[in-house]
Amino acid sequence: KTKQQTNEFVGAIDQGTSSSRFLIFNASNLELVTYHQETIEISTPQPGWVEQDPNELLEKTTLCIEKAVEQFEGLGYNKSDIKVIGITNQRETTILWDKETGKVLHNALVWLDARTQETVDFLLKQYNKRQDCLQEKCGLPLSTYFSALKIRWLMDNCEEVRTAIEEKRCCFGTVDSWLLYNLLSDDKNTVHVTDVTNASRTMLMNIRTLKWDASLCDFFSIPEHILPEIKSSSTIFGYINKGALQGVPVGAVLGDQQAALVGQRCWTKGTAKSTYGTGCFILYNTGNDLAYSLNGLLTTVAYKWNDDDPVYALEGSIAIAGQCIKWLRDNLGLIPDSKSTETIAASVKDTGGVYFVPAFSGLFAPYWRSDARGLITGMTQYTTKAHIVRAALEGICYQTREIVDAMYDDSGVRLSKLKVDGGMANNKLFLHMLADIVGMNVTTPGLSETTALGAALAAGKAKGIDLFQLDDENEIDTKMSSYTPKIHGEQREENFASWKKAVIKSFERLT
Ligand code: G3P
Repeated sequence: KTKQQTNEFVGAIDQGTSSSRFLIFNASNLELVTYHQETIEISTPQPGWVEQDPNELLEKTTLCIEKAVEQFEGLGYNKSDIKVIGITNQRETTILWDKETGKVLHNALVWLDARTQETVDFLLKQYNKRQDCLQEKCGLPLSTYFSALKIRWLMDNCEEVRTAIEEKRCCFGTVDSWLLYNLLSDDKNTVHVTDVTNASRTMLMNIRTLKWDASLCDFFSIPEHILPEIKSSSTIFGYINKGALQGVPVGAVLGDQQAALVGQRCWTKGTAKSTYGTGCFILYNTGNDLAYSLNGLLTTVAYKWNDDDPVYALEGSIAIAGQCIKWLRDNLGLIPDSKSTETIAASVKDTGGVYFVPAFSGLFAPYWRSDARGLITGMTQYTTKAHIVRAALEGICYQTREIVDAMYDDSGVRLSKLKVDGGMANNKLFLHMLADIVGMNVTTPGLSETTALGAALAAGKAKGIDLFQLDDENEIDTKMSSYTPKIHGEQREENFASWKKAVIKSFERLT
């Protein structure tokens, strides 16, 4: 295939849990030309509570656009060649704002926030239902993770929210919606939209019709008028209203994990990727078919291009991955930076029998136990910080193994390899450990920044710039790295059995 020889560039906003970024890709070879990144504060006012300031998410995103475009022009390019941008974002994080003034009504409840446990318990009791009672309709188990629970908590606990809802001034949005409202709105503040992938994480969208579902809204007592309009993932959402990219269209919106699936080129049924960011999310493309899991995996929309049929995925969600490394750095001061985990963990040959279950927000798939709590077990006088750091890395690998097993149990088909990306994919020791623990080849892509790339590909599509046709075989795949399992199967299973025992301990309540 021949490459397009154009002077066209595509931008991507990547608003994640830990940072906001804006990246600019060259449309002729998908090369990352430049980017700017800003870290985002997370506050934890009470155990289990996790909040962010929606204004910070917006301001840092805008700053990233301005800075990256400035760098782009500094490199001799012209910003008018940035033809379209895509948005990809942390999912489920819930923001409520006043549609008339644009003022937020409460801090964002971040996807990791587990304060809604009582709301979950209350609803299950009220209706005398099981945790999977809504799975058929929305693909998800009843859990603190999803937006509907967070909206309901805000309605129950925040007077200002109730009043705004009564006066029909309240808008709900995931982070994409909040950014679109602010980046695209005219004077009348009329832009209140989201895409199918983000909507599929709320528990309020019917996974078949791709529309808000009255019975789901009733279940949570959430009025439909606060919800945004649902669009495809790749379509023109509107035009940026100010700043360096004023007038540039937004051509795509995708939740960050779905964007990584697209960016990793998992475009056919049966392909899968695993992204290690704040959390870890393994998505398995099931094509146009809806598949339901019996093993705690979620059914979610992978993407929908314009008027095409939607593509679905099964997802294994792990709440804590990179966040555990951040915790070692910020809360314990055990490591100077994330990067050092590689050398510190490599200084010992194993964990010396230590297991670390990072259940800081309960455990997501396959357990869905909001009551689980983090633990480090198996320590002796011999244990050093290196063993604990290594156990933290291993804990992330064992959680991945649990998901890979669940996928096998659901589909009867073993993944042939694990395609890995995200910040932790830069840690080679981690990738070796992952191959050992999961027992399969682990590969990292030739092109990094797969999440932003997925959003850029989808945005290009809406603008008639077909980046999907670029030939990857020769150029991209030769840059791919591969890691092969080295330990014996027997040893692997023994260690995994010990991990499972540690997980059971994380369910025990001490008080
Ligand atoms: O569902 C939460 C997920 O979207 C967060 O992604 O990249 O911030 O770990 P990340």
